[in-house]
Amino acid sequence: MHQTRDLGGLIFVELRDWTGVVQVVFNPAVDSRLHEQARELRSEFVVAVRGRVRRRAPENVNPRLATGEVEVVPEALELLNRSKTPPFYIAEGNEVDETLRLRYRYLDLRRPAMQANLRLRHRLLKAIRDFLDAEGFVEVETPDLTRSTPEGARDFLVPSRTNPGTFYALPQSPQLFKQLLMVGGVGRYYQIARCFRDEDLRADRQPEFTQIDLEMSFVEAEDVQDVTERMLAAAVEATVGERLALPLPRLTWAEAMDRYGSDKPDLRFGMAVADAGDLLAGLDFAPFRQALERGGTVRALAVPGAAGASRRQIDAWTELARKAGAAGLVWLGTGEELRGPLRERLERERVARLLERAGGRPGDLLLMVAGEPRQASLVLGRLRLQIAAELDLVPPGRFAAAWVTDFPLLEWNEEEGRWEAAHHPFTMPNPEDLERLESDPGSVRALSYDLVLNGYELGSGSIRIHRREVQQRLFRAIGIDEERARQRFGFLLEAFEYGAPPHGGVALGVDRIAMILAGAASLRDVIAFPKTARGADLMMGAPSEVDPGQLEELGIALRRPGPIVADHGA
Ligand code: AMO
Repeated sequence: MHQTRDLGGLIFVELRDWTGVVQVVFNPAVDSRLHEQARELRSEFVVAVRGRVRRRAPENVNPRLATGEVEVVPEALELLNRSKTPPFYIAEGNEVDETLRLRYRYLDLRRPAMQANLRLRHRLLKAIRDFLDAEGFVEVETPDLTRSTPEGARDFLVPSRTNPGTFYALPQSPQLFKQLLMVGGVGRYYQIARCFRDEDLRADRQPEFTQIDLEMSFVEAEDVQDVTERMLAAAVEATVGERLALPLPRLTWAEAMDRYGSDKPDLRFGMAVADAGDLLAGLDFAPFRQALERGGTVRALAVPGAAGASRRQIDAWTELARKAGAAGLVWLGTGEELRGPLRERLERERVARLLERAGGRPGDLLLMVAGEPRQASLVLGRLRLQIAAELDLVPPGRFAAAWVTDFPLLEWNEEEGRWEAAHHPFTMPNPEDLERLESDPGSVRALSYDLVLNGYELGSGSIRIHRREVQQRLFRAIGIDEERARQRFGFLLEAFEYGAPPHGGVALGVDRIAMILAGAASLRDVIAFPKTARGADLMMGAPSEVDPGQLEELGIALRRPGPIVADHGA
């Protein structure tokens, strides 16, 4: 029973099941006993109705319902089960507290929006499986009880009863297994794989999530990108009916950082950051002069049609720029009259060239940040996203995907004072840069690539190291000495000694793709049974304390008995 309306005489009942909703009309003049029975029915009761389907009179047609042209005239009604009054209204459109939704997830799943999301996710996975099958990939399952796989998060550990004192780790990804499958002669592998990462959660992260994980032998980066983008296009078409134009744009990491201040640029709209240092050289304006003298630059962003932005708005953006690390934000309204601190100092000619450089037009608002080039781009990149959201510059319903390539291989970890892998330590260094791995580690590019969609990182991948010496060199570069490398990754180093083929692959986050395609705000809306930001399952009540006997069997003694966090608030 979806909802019922009792109009005194007639009772209209909307019956809902997995296939949709249909109206049943109980008329006392037709069958007074049935009508009497129907008066007992409440929302979420489970009933069986037998009756005749008839066309509704034209004035009663409900265009809101797929079945709005017909209704059922009942001949028999059976009550299969009752329902308590649900804690929230199931019919679409009302804002329900998420904690309540998660606690009663089985009720939340009855809501049409959630049912639509589950179906979308199904179509997404089916399209991906069909596509990969046709491309000659084979789905292989890999273990969940395994050893640590370094993807940069903490592991979830599972104690072993049969080997006391030892632990399995749940996989952060099937990375090592898929590489070993390549050594095992599986030329094209894929898996819809569950991954587990104990990390701080955000709206686009869950502690367990799903990847579409793939790996191929004898390929170069372009081959993996080509298969992956065709797979994404097939999935987008099967779910939301949009066509992605292929090949997807490719930009290097350095370009993405310079032009969008982000390694996952949102390309649904323009407003790229431009370097205007040369155009502003010689200007009598201390902030710019000083930045240029120190080897820095001035970068600029054109906000379309915003020459007349209010001082309050500009102050708010300036505040944001400062928070993002800029000394200040210089603005120039380029309407009929110039506005802003530079209006007396800039000739029209120079303004025209600035606008051209930033891809803008007269009437735009130019925002400028002086300083270290990447830092200036970073600040303007933040502003770009904020302003686009504020001014509604993002076209709705658009999907803009791209590849970001040539990431740095290594990143300096300030806290630990050492280099670490930017992607993961199995990524192949760009052969052109390999000779600098020891002398200038930060300058070495990786043969890696990220797929971005609407400003989200959908997935990442790389060509892998397949030779033992190179792998060992890389381990050394990130401070893993020979002994530890043998301990942790001996099986991989050994496997590389038995004719490992060159290989590469990628993994895309299924939950993230589904979230974006469904237009959802959180991964939780496209996962049947998700966890809260604190990693709790509010319905099952996980994680939970365990029986002391179980701990005993595992040889585990708790230092601090009882849960540290008692409640599982969202
Ligand atoms: P990476 O760690 O970049 O790469 O993960 C790939 C993609 O998985 C998704 N993802 C997540 N989704 C939800 N919640 C999370 N906590 C979460 N973490 C990651 C993202 C991300 O882009 N083994 C490599 C891939 C490879 O090299 O082939 C890997 O796992 O969409």
